[in-house]
Amino acid sequence: MKEKITEIKNQLQTKISQVKTLNELNDVRIEFLGKKGSITELSNYMREIPVEEKKEFGSLLNTIKNEANEILNAKKEELENIELQKKLNYETIDVTLPGTKLSVGGTHPLTKVIDEIEELFVSMGYDVVEGPEIEQDLYNFEKLNLPKGHPARDAQDSFYITDEMLLRSQTSPVQARTMDANLEKTPIRVICPGKVYRRDDDDATHSHQFTQIEGLVVDKDISLADLKGTLEILAKKLFGEEREIRFRPSFFPFTEPSIEVDVSCFKCGGVGCPICKETGWIEILGSGMVHPNVLRGCGYDPEIYTGFAFGIGPERVAMLKYGIGDIRSFYTNDLRFLSDFNRVEGGE
Ligand code: DAH
Repeated sequence: MKEKITEIKNQLQTKISQVKTLNELNDVRIEFLGKKGSITELSNYMREIPVEEKKEFGSLLNTIKNEANEILNAKKEELENIELQKKLNYETIDVTLPGTKLSVGGTHPLTKVIDEIEELFVSMGYDVVEGPEIEQDLYNFEKLNLPKGHPARDAQDSFYITDEMLLRSQTSPVQARTMDANLEKTPIRVICPGKVYRRDDDDATHSHQFTQIEGLVVDKDISLADLKGTLEILAKKLFGEEREIRFRPSFFPFTEPSIEVDVSCFKCGGVGCPICKETGWIEILGSGMVHPNVLRGCGYDPEIYTGFAFGIGPERVAMLKYGIGDIRSFYTNDLRFLSDFNRVEGGE
């Protein structure tokens, strides 16, 4: 019997030495220690063994079972280590390989200008409000002192949808909407950014769709000095601390007096250069004191309340600030323009 056991042990050693995978190892385990395995079947001899030898045989049987288990487990560990090593080698990270470049978007130049203006006015206590892009003639024109047939309507050739509805040609209707909604609650301090539409032929300086930011302040005792102070802060914020502004008389139906505002040229400092067309000044926005008719039409008594308003074009500001030559570049989503701009500006 001892020979038999030794033989089985030798067989096991030989088989084990040939095993290359965990699956093969499992087959060997079944072959020797499975239900019908050759070691398991040794127990069947127990019956034939004389009583006095049973103890020794039993102990031999246990020993070989334990030994077989040890051998199999050791092999299992060895194979698992080999697998792990293979996996580690395979998964090694080559830190010298060039990385995958993730292209990150940047802030659109127009958004940058709008954000900058919003931030400034919010810091001065203004609210940011919005109005509809499909607007009533009532708000786009009539409540702004531009009754039907008024010649100044022609300056803003508009996209009408019906007789009474149009794509707003300016953000000024948000002034009237804000006053209507507040009904003599003051102070009103708002800025209204948004898209506007005009029947213009697109070229380097015109676009049928562009953006404006409207500003409106209504309260008791608001004067031209408040408007001037506010716009000076705006000009300095947009074009640099040394900037000065100047007022020129103008005409807008919804303001009286109406004023066009120039900023001293940020390029030449006022001496004269191609950017300011040798004048030293650059026109940046339209403004004025809210016309009594507008206040009255929106439920504010002009004897008690006064206000100022202004309208600025973010495209013009961005073109000046960043030296952009064609207004169409803002809308065509040409990545060369956008990433170029972000590279110059540092992007975000
Ligand atoms: N709405 C005017 C335009 O589109 C711009 C403007 C001028 C707005 C004077 C104002 C203002 O609020 O006071 O041409």
